[in-house]
Amino acid sequence: MKHIVILISGRGSNMEAIVQACAAGGWPARIAAVISNRPDAAGLAFAQAHGVPTAVVDHKAFGKGDAARVAFDAELQRVIDGFSPDLVVLAGFMRILTPGFTAHYAGRMLNIHPSLLPAFPGLHTHQRAIEAGCRVAGATVHFVTAELDHGPIVAQAVVPVLDGDDEAALAARVLRLEHRMYPSAVRWFVEGQLAVEGARVRHAAGEPQMFS
Ligand code: GRF
Repeated sequence: MKHIVILISGRGSNMEAIVQACAAGGWPARIAAVISNRPDAAGLAFAQAHGVPTAVVDHKAFGKGDAARVAFDAELQRVIDGFSPDLVVLAGFMRILTPGFTAHYAGRMLNIHPSLLPAFPGLHTHQRAIEAGCRVAGATVHFVTAELDHGPIVAQAVVPVLDGDDEAALAARVLRLEHRMYPSAVRWFVEGQLAVEGARVRHAAGEPQMFS
């Protein structure tokens, strides 16, 4: 039984999708904990209501600056490792991570980013895609490396950008696919189906790694 630890900062709808898919059965894994850097993250209540242990490591308690960032990541790592994770899943976790932290979880930490990487790393991805006149947008699940919103791509979800879309409309269209893609990607990992070959990640049994 593999242990999954999920990190959130807010709403937690991707976390919900993963908790529900895991509970629906067949995964050789369980959700060991949901951890937030914000005490008021809405997703914590869902996790508690579903019997998933929760923890909060409040980044505000560490102050600002590089030393604070290192101290926060060290404490977060200590709390995560208390749950003996095989996989750490970043699901709307809004923190820039230190290189030591990402190295510690190399090959066993996934992130979801709401753009078709390598386009639009960082924030405000949907607005930027609309302003750039993109005809497609989407989301990417990738292994986490030291570089922000970078790393071997496990899966991508593609949606059209329609005339008249605003940020909220496009975000909602992408999110529906995120909720299908991320549970699939996490399941593939815990089933041992993913092989990283340079920048490319291959599913051993040939499952489609593009969602639309
Ligand atoms: C999602 O769009 C995810 O791709 C991005 O932040 C959002 C989190 O939403 N990283 P939720 O907290 O999972 O509802």
